[in-house]
Amino acid sequence: MTIAITGATGQLGRLAVAALKSRVPAKDIVALVRDPAKATDLGVKTVAFDYNKPDTLVPALAGVDVIVLISSNDVGARLAQHLAVIAAAKTAGVKRIVYTSIPRADTTPMLLAADHKASEEAIRASGLPYTFLRNGWYTENHTGSLGGAIAAGALIGSAGSGRFSSAPRADYAEAIAVVASEPDHENRVYELGGDQSHSYAELASEVSRLTGKAVGYNDLPGETYAGILQGFGLPAEFATVLADADAQTANGALEVRTGDLARLIGRPTTPWHVVVAETLKDLAEAA
Ligand SMILES: NC(=O)c1ccc[n+]([C@@H]2O[C@H](COP(=O)([O-])OP(=O)(O)OC[C@H]3O[C@@H](n4cnc5c(N)ncnc54)[C@H](OP(=O)(O)O)[C@@H]3O)[C@@H](O)[C@H]2O)c1
Repeated sequence: MTIAITGATGQLGRLAVAALKSRVPAKDIVALVRDPAKATDLGVKTVAFDYNKPDTLVPALAGVDVIVLISSNDVGARLAQHLAVIAAAKTAGVKRIVYTSIPRADTTPMLLAADHKASEEAIRASGLPYTFLRNGWYTENHTGSLGGAIAAGALIGSAGSGRFSSAPRADYAEAIAVVASEPDHENRVYELGGDQSHSYAELASEVSRLTGKAVGYNDLPGETYAGILQGFGLPAEFATVLADADAQTANGALEVRTGDLARLIGRPTTPWHVVVAETLKDLAEAA
């Protein structure tokens, strides 16, 4: 059985390829990559696959049984990209599509979810067997900015006391490897998140405890937060989408209590505070 994975040179994709390699022979894995030059270290066959070149997608999928479509990072253009991949998978005779989505994609009001909802609908409409991995927040979304927060003495956000059931990318990558390589996940929808959740204030408090430095949580109105994100260089539309994600988190949109992720990977998820501790250790070593 051949498993192909898109976005294989991305952060989640690289981890998913590694996780797949520990479950199936490397010869059964195909990395579908926009730039093959970035994929030479993956240790599996690579095939050029650019979502924006629809004519090239069908031949690239020849002989593929399961395609893992890691949602594109090109927010704004990605729905058309996903639709091109879904159509190509159908034409190429792929037997199942695994799609990385967002919690409660079909009902959540989160702006970020619109492309995921439409992509899931297109996959169902294609008639292809599917597995939806509705990934919760990556812990790295928060730990990536801890250096700046420590320097500023505050984390910023707009989620109030909302909780993030976050897990590191590596946990979600393992779930990809499990559902792509096992036969029992056809037409299943998994709501994935960490076993533990945290608020921004709890995250700030843990950072303070571990560093001995005062780091608080500064909760901002959505428009103010979006403006600051723009100041950091984010495009206005994406800043608005991220501020909206926080606003919806305040209403519970990123709390996931299903236990699906731990069940799929066969172990407890990696707690957020472990990722925080590792990040702070790396920051200290780099200083
Ligand atoms: N759950 C969360 O908290 C969360 C957070 C952020 C993002 N996400 C979603 O999860 C996805 C994976 O996360 P990540 O951290 O691995 O993102 P990432 O590192 O930005 O990877 C995105 C991948 O998409 C590929 N891609 C973009 N445009 C493409 C195109 N035209 N043709 C083919 N491939 C294309 C990129 O290719 P290159 O390697 O060539 O650049 C990259 O491999 C993201 O794309 C986004 O949809 C989820």
